[in-house]
Amino acid sequence: MTSPLVDALQPMLTGRFGRAIRHFEVVDSTSSEALRWVADEADPAPDGALVLADLQTEGRGRWGREWFGEPGSSLMFSLVLRPMLPADRIDLITTVAGVAVTEAVREAGADASLKWPNDVIVRERKLAGVLAESRTRADRVEAVVLGIGVNLSIEGSAAPEEIARRAVGLAEAAPDPIEPHVLLARILARLERYYDALWTDAGPGEIVTLAEKRSSIVGREVVVTFPDGSKQEGRAIRIAHDGSLELDLQGERRSVRSGEITTVRPAGVR
Ligand code: BTN
Repeated sequence: MTSPLVDALQPMLTGRFGRAIRHFEVVDSTSSEALRWVADEADPAPDGALVLADLQTEGRGRWGREWFGEPGSSLMFSLVLRPMLPADRIDLITTVAGVAVTEAVREAGADASLKWPNDVIVRERKLAGVLAESRTRADRVEAVVLGIGVNLSIEGSAAPEEIARRAVGLAEAAPDPIEPHVLLARILARLERYYDALWTDAGPGEIVTLAEKRSSIVGREVVVTFPDGSKQEGRAIRIAHDGSLELDLQGERRSVRSGEITTVRPAGVR
């Protein structure tokens, strides 16, 4: 279907991302819809296909969490990628998305940084999140679906208290209002540029340099919660060229591919 958001967005698109587009007033999850589109053999989603929704009934985040979004409170979309990348670069797609969103909201005036691997935060509150899911076939990554949610306005929304306490909207974090289609066009333009850079020899290094520049945790003391629920405290050293986070855990170097940074304290503060 067509919509005012899509009509406003299309003239602003400069590349292939967002050229194929599906917009829903209500959908279970834009990422579920994008994965269905990928699997549709009659009309499979091409590289850069975009699914947008005003409302999700089953919006999801990492670690099985729910993503809250009602019309106007959140920009919710999923982007289909058809990576021809070497497998060791796939994890960097999340980093690319995190950097692209961080830079786009910074351009809108928010003092945002990137909390590895995929949270965009302002003053320790979450402004946006990225969920990367892939569909594999015969050991090959057929598609990666990047699900992205950006909080536009949390104050006055119906967000549950425990979400509202940890979240911030762009309306609260940036001095001037920005139209959702302008924000989306800026995110897509950056995403496409950095994603295409991943193909080049220098690409991973460039992406990691940008991610470290925008990182809220590199060089700081952190507590990491691993997928099995165990926790460890240490210092975030750097982001490696495969997108993993290198930590100094009381003298022991460890490279983490998946985990959650639950506590961040300024370096040196005990
Ligand atoms: C996270 O922070 O854990 C990731 C949140 C991702 C939310 C977005 S909203 C659009 C897309 N559809 C979903 O169901 N999830 C992502």
